[in-house]
Amino acid sequence: EQEAARISHIIAEHQGDEGPLLPILHDIQAEFGYVPESAKQIIAKALNLSRAEVHGVVTFYHDFRDHPSGRHVLKLCRAEACQSMGCEPLADKIKAKLGIDWHETTADGAVTLEPVFCLGLCASAPAAMLDDALYGRLNEDCLNDIVAEVGR
Ligand code: FES
Repeated sequence: EQEAARISHIIAEHQGDEGPLLPILHDIQAEFGYVPESAKQIIAKALNLSRAEVHGVVTFYHDFRDHPSGRHVLKLCRAEACQSMGCEPLADKIKAKLGIDWHETTADGAVTLEPVFCLGLCASAPAAMLDDALYGRLNEDCLNDIVAEVGR
């Protein structure tokens, strides 16, 4: 069907590349927002790998996701400046509020939580990004606002 055709097209663009698996997965994720289960099979066949090998790569690299992300994506910075300003306790709080861990999506599909390593807002650490909006000097009040924003 159409999904398979789009996947095959992406694979074809990388046939003959050296080490085509990662670029193919990147392009598929860019196209679909995640790597669909059906893609793993098609890629495996095209590259002469097992589906398990392709699956292993998808799960190894946290850039790739197996499932569509939530309607919102909340990224919390975990790099040094934000660490020193207490991003980890804040991350624990937001995880508890949302009931999810890193890379997970709330059951209603509202929000996916991702770690990032520096958003370029180190001077305003701790920093976060909700969809395209940047937040600096995060504190619990901000987190509550963000949670309200995603409708939780
Ligand atoms: Fe968090 Fe740079 S370290 S924004």
